[in-house]
Amino acid sequence: MARHIAIEGYKWWRSGVIYQIYPRSFADSSGDGIGDLRGITQRLDVLVDLGVDALWLSPFYTSPQKDAGYDVADYCDVDPLFGTLADFDELMKTAHLKNLRVMIDLVPNHTSDQHRWFQDALNSKPGSKEREYYHFKNGLGDNGELPPNNWLSMFGGPAWTRCEDGQWFLHLFDSSQPDLNWENPLVRSEFEAILRFWLDRGVDGFRVDQPHAMAKAAGLPDHPYVDEAGAGFIEGREAPPMWFQDSVHEIFRDWRKILESYPGQRAMCGEAYVLPLSLMALWVRPDEFHQTFNFRFLDAGWNEAAITSAIDESFEAFDSVGAPSTWVLNNHDVMRHVSRFGGNYGRATASDGIGINDPQPDNETGLAIAKGATLFMLGLPGASYLYQGEELGLPDHTTLEDEYRQDPTFLRTNGKRLGRDGSRVPLPWEKGNQSNGFSETGASWLPQPSSYKALSRDQQLNVADSTLEFYKAALRLRNELKLGEGSFDWVNQGELLSYKNGETLIIHNFSDIPKRLPAGRLLLASAELFEGLLPAHASCYLKV
Ligand code: GLC
Repeated sequence: MARHIAIEGYKWWRSGVIYQIYPRSFADSSGDGIGDLRGITQRLDVLVDLGVDALWLSPFYTSPQKDAGYDVADYCDVDPLFGTLADFDELMKTAHLKNLRVMIDLVPNHTSDQHRWFQDALNSKPGSKEREYYHFKNGLGDNGELPPNNWLSMFGGPAWTRCEDGQWFLHLFDSSQPDLNWENPLVRSEFEAILRFWLDRGVDGFRVDQPHAMAKAAGLPDHPYVDEAGAGFIEGREAPPMWFQDSVHEIFRDWRKILESYPGQRAMCGEAYVLPLSLMALWVRPDEFHQTFNFRFLDAGWNEAAITSAIDESFEAFDSVGAPSTWVLNNHDVMRHVSRFGGNYGRATASDGIGINDPQPDNETGLAIAKGATLFMLGLPGASYLYQGEELGLPDHTTLEDEYRQDPTFLRTNGKRLGRDGSRVPLPWEKGNQSNGFSETGASWLPQPSSYKALSRDQQLNVADSTLEFYKAALRLRNELKLGEGSFDWVNQGELLSYKNGETLIIHNFSDIPKRLPAGRLLLASAELFEGLLPAHASCYLKV
C-alpha cells in the first residue's frame, strides 16, 4: 500500500489546481456563438474567486476547426474566431496580474492539412524535402492502391489517405490532421522555435497533445494486433509501432532544456496515454515532462477497488522518479463525471458518447457521486486538473440532436460513435437568454440542454448548498491545509475508504448506506451529514 512523503520546496505545477478552459465554449464576447479570448479575459475574476492556481487553454490557434482546433494551421497565431495575438497578450497580462498561471496546448503530433508545411508537401514531388515533414509513402498492391500498412485512425477508418499523385499520407486522427515526421530534424527545429515563441510571450507551460504518438517505429511496420486493439494498444502487450516508442524521449529532453532556460517555473504536462503507470514514469523522469495526465485514475470509474489500486499505482510510479502525480476526473474528451457516474458507461476514455436513443444517466445520483469523488481527489497531494463547468455540476448533453454534432469521430463513423460533443457544450453564466449568458446574443455553437438554465453560475453564486460554493470551499481548504503539497497514507477505517494528508483525514463512503465517522472535527463534506453519519457516495475532510 503506497505512502507518499511531502516534497520540500514549493513549485506551482507540483501541487496546483489547473483549470482547463475550452475556449470555444467558455465565454463569447463577440456574439457569434463561439467563445473567444476576450471572453476569457473578461471572466478571469470568476476563476480567482473559484480558487484555482492555473489555467490550461485548449487550442486557439489558426485552424479550420475540423477537430475543434486540434488541427493547427499556424502555431504562432490566433484564429480570428478567438481573437488576435494582442487579445492573447492581454489575457496573459491580466491572468498574471491576478496570480493565475497560464498553460497552453501544444499539438505536435499532427498539423492541419491547411498548414503551409502540408500544402507545400502536397505541391512538391514524392521524395522531396517538403514531403519529409510528414509520412508520405507509396501504397501496396500492383498500383499502390492499398494503404502502406494496416494502421487505423483513432477517429475511425484507415489511418492513410491517398493524395492526387498516388502517394498516401499518414493520419492517426482525422484525414485533415496529417502526422508530422519527427525523424526529420527540420520538424524538431520548427517546434523549438514555436516553444520559444510562446515562452517569450510569457506562458507558464504547455499541455502537450498526444506525445505518445509522435515517434513511429522505423519502416512503419503493421500493427501486430490490430484485430484486437483497433487503433489503440492493449496494456501489458508490446507497444504497437505508433504508440510510446522509446525514440520519442530525446525530444522532450530537448524541450525541457528550453523551458529551463527561461526564468520562472515553466512546466510541461504530457497527455501521454501510457499504461501501466510504471511505463509512464519514464515520461516524467527529471529531465523530461514535469507531469503527465493520470489516465489510470480518470479511467478507473468510481469504485473502491479500482480507485484504491489507481492511487497506489500512481504514487508508486510517480514517486519512483520524483514527479508529482496528477489527478483528473474530467476533460473535453470524456463524458462529464456527473453523467458518467450517473450511468454505467465504463471507461471514461473509451466512451463513444450518449445520445437521445440511449439509456439516460441519473444525473442526480451522478452529481452526488461526482461531488464525493472530487472532494476525495482534491485531498490527494499532487496537481489536480479541473475542466470548465464541473464546478457548476454540469452533466453532459446526452440528448443532443445529431444535426449539431461536430466531432470528427461522429462524422468518420457515420454516426456509429457519437463522439465528444456532449462534454463541450458552452457554459451557462447568467440564467436568461438562449445560451444563459454564454453570449449576449444567446447564440451558441452547440445548444445547451434545458438543465443548464438552473445550473447557471449566477443561480449558484452565494447559494449555500450549491455545487459552485462546494467547489469553492473545497479549493479554499485544499489551499489552507496545503493538501496539494502534502503527504499520503492510507488509514484503515473499516468500511470507509480513508487516507491521511498531514493532519487531515479524507474519507469516502463507497457503500449505499450512511456510515458512522471516526472522531475528528468536520471541515467539509460533499453532502450534509445525517445524525453524524456520512451519506452514501459522500466524502468529507476531518481534522484529527
Ligand atoms: C487529444 C485531444 C483531443 C484531440 C486529439 C487529436 O487527445 O485532447 O481533443 O482530438 O488529441 O489531436
